[in-house]
Amino acid sequence: MRDTYVTVTCQAESEELCLNELFKLGCKLRFDRRLDHGVMLICTDLPFPEFSELVRSSRLIFLRHIAPVDVTQERDGDGFSTLPTELDALAARLDPTAAFGVQLRKCNVDAETAHSLRRRITEHLERYGFRHDTRRPQQVVSVYCTEDRLLIGLSRTFENLSDWGGGMRMYAYREDTISRAEFKLLEAIERFALELPVNGAALDLGAAPGGWSKVLLERGMRVLAVDPAELSPTLSSNPNLTHFKGLAQDLPMANGRTFDLLTNDMRMDTRESVEITNSMSRYLCDGGLAIVTFKLPKKGITAIVNKGLRLLEESFTLLHAKQLFHNRSEITVVAVKGKPLTVGSGEA
Ligand SMILES: C[S@@+](CC[C@H](N)C(=O)[O-])C[C@H]1O[C@@H](n2cnc3c(N)ncnc32)[C@H](O)[C@@H]1O
Repeated sequence: MRDTYVTVTCQAESEELCLNELFKLGCKLRFDRRLDHGVMLICTDLPFPEFSELVRSSRLIFLRHIAPVDVTQERDGDGFSTLPTELDALAARLDPTAAFGVQLRKCNVDAETAHSLRRRITEHLERYGFRHDTRRPQQVVSVYCTEDRLLIGLSRTFENLSDWGGGMRMYAYREDTISRAEFKLLEAIERFALELPVNGAALDLGAAPGGWSKVLLERGMRVLAVDPAELSPTLSSNPNLTHFKGLAQDLPMANGRTFDLLTNDMRMDTRESVEITNSMSRYLCDGGLAIVTFKLPKKGITAIVNKGLRLLEESFTLLHAKQLFHNRSEITVVAVKGKPLTVGSGEA
């Protein structure tokens, strides 16, 4: 069987964790080379759609994005002046009923070269009559451009794990952006297609300076923000926000008070953070969501993460656990209050 080459992407500091997850998949897999910080080329004996299906059903935490490599081309004397002839064979595989996008990533290549490549590849495929859509393509031509070669592959967008090239979901800083942390929650909501209850109540633990609280307020929620640190003054006049200026462990809570959502971005040891989340779950309504970041230690990450997930399962059913683009030394975990009806063996 023909080998399949795949670019895999994760956070730069999580390469080893990501590879370990991949090697545990149970398929034949070989590390080929590192292309950039957090970008690696691997080789498997599975066709890309099957590899993608295996990866998606295994819910890996540190792997953020995959893309197939169907065509490679060495750099010619003038840079990448000619497009690979195999691009025509790749065009023959495009679905004429679905829009395509070209996602180009580069390493040690100037922006002009990359921009021109993307334009030429797009125009080449458009000449066949295929419809190009940069915003919501259903199929993607992934191009990875290094100083000496081009790697190109075609896949369905969902097969790549993320709609964004390399899983790099960017958000623009706005005048009212409070903290970079905001982007973590925005990404989690988008990536996991979370539906937050409009007019619902949220308990936001570790809320300062208030980025997550702001995102929740913007979605029509009432927020109890808990943090000993100050919140941004831009939030102070919001009638839907209450700030308990103290530790989550000291939060006085009225009997019978309930929340629809619990968020926890507290900077603390994962075990303690999960214990607090579990104890707060009594204030969460049935079926209420918890969105929690696990802060990762320098060593023993896999054990800490697994213990944290198992502990969280004492009060919640895990839905997602992922290191998102906007997570640095942490992962984002989403869980729903209550036990699953049947005991599953799948890993979150
Ligand atoms: C990463 S920041 C949170 C950022 C916030 N989510 C935002 O969007 O602006 C972590 C916060 O956890 C808070 N924290 C740490 N331990 C805490 C505790 N025991 N109770 C409440 N907050 C705590 C810190 O004061 C800090 O403000």
